[in-house]
Amino acid sequence: MNILLLGSGGREHALAWKIAQSPRVSQLFIAPGNPGTASLGHNVPLSLSDFAAIAAFVSNNAIDMVVCGPEQPLVDGLADYLAASDATRGVPFIGPRREGAQLEGSKDFAKAFMLRHHIPTAAYRTFDGTMADDAKAFLRTLTPPYVLKADGLCAGKGVLIVPSLPEAEKALDEMLGGKFGTASAKVVVEEYLQGIELSVFALLDGTGGYALLPEAKDYKRIGEGDTGLNTGGMGSVSPVPFADAAFMRKVEEEIVRPTVQGLIQDGIAYRGFVFFGLMNCAGQPKVIEYNCRMGDPETETVMLRLQSDLVDLLKATADGTLSAMQVETDARAAACIMLVSGGYPESYGKGYPITGIKQAQEESVVFHAGTSIKDNTLVTSGGRVIAVSSYGNTLSEALLTSQHAADTITFKDAYHRRDIGRDVTC
Ligand code: AMP
Ligand code: GLY
Repeated sequence: MNILLLGSGGREHALAWKIAQSPRVSQLFIAPGNPGTASLGHNVPLSLSDFAAIAAFVSNNAIDMVVCGPEQPLVDGLADYLAASDATRGVPFIGPRREGAQLEGSKDFAKAFMLRHHIPTAAYRTFDGTMADDAKAFLRTLTPPYVLKADGLCAGKGVLIVPSLPEAEKALDEMLGGKFGTASAKVVVEEYLQGIELSVFALLDGTGGYALLPEAKDYKRIGEGDTGLNTGGMGSVSPVPFADAAFMRKVEEEIVRPTVQGLIQDGIAYRGFVFFGLMNCAGQPKVIEYNCRMGDPETETVMLRLQSDLVDLLKATADGTLSAMQVETDARAAACIMLVSGGYPESYGKGYPITGIKQAQEESVVFHAGTSIKDNTLVTSGGRVIAVSSYGNTLSEALLTSQHAADTITFKDAYHRRDIGRDVTC
């Protein structure tokens, strides 16, 4: 099979690493890819917003399957676009159409979906610009801290958690006043959930079949002890020790299956990944959010632990035969540590040479997140630069190996957290 994978981050490098291991693959193209994916296939300089160019590439290169890494093209209707064009209509596409992608693209859509299908989540109400007084009255019924979410996609910045009522009212006015442009024309105000988060992933085949992938936990804050600003993710671990068989049975019965069946009931043939962002509230899983893609940096541990051939699973996703598939999981643990540019997630320098990758690869799997080639040298080109993932017989072992590999890789002002996984291993 010829496969086109869309995206350019650590998540896509990890997906490419796993796809490239499949004997089914003849050619793997990654668009636009990064210097890491270049060693696994052919990088293609396509813009993910140029749907016509993607369609032309698919039809001119005998592509047998398209796999979409990030959410934006899905929310913008790439699957619908390719399905509407004669040249690409029959090519299997992994990722939902625009309507299914609303699970991530609209918080209001996702909350209404969960309410309709009795899926456990935080109590909420949605308000638009004409309803500021109602929103403030609703805020007064909640206990602090207050959670306000822009309805639309905001590159991970649209959720505000504020400690006091006056701050919540101010934040609400700002959001409804256009703080996040049209994305905050509607604001979801919801109950704060106390607990510990985890990420659960499934592939859905659009006919009611699904496959659960290994779960993971990510670490979002820049500082150790989960302090400081939110980032795109500083590390991840899989498995998640508190997600034992009894807890995962609840997740499957109360969340995954009702989601799969709810989509079918609503007439949405969803073919692709669903990322369930969950809170473990004293043993009861509740949905914080849905995403219509894999997580980053969770994919950098989930792919290490997925033993089954990913392309077999993706093909079954496209064919509607996932319920006949078994997912084999590696019994070992996996841990990922993200090396980031000093200053991230605020301003940071770029273009610094990176050394030590070959040595780190002796013990770990090194995924590129924000790198580029300048004058034949690998340099930093983003905030999150390199994700180092390792196996271990235990999570602690995997973390130690990743820690060592992360210390081996150097670039100017490199930073990584040293406490990833500590909360669930100690
Ligand atoms: P989201 O973009 O919906 O994932 O929200 C970003 C982050 O905000 C989540 O990963 C949680 O850490 C936090 N969060 C969102 N909603 C809630 C909630 N209702 N209660 C507690 N934390 C939340
Ligand atoms: N790790 C969280 C996300 O990918 O959104």
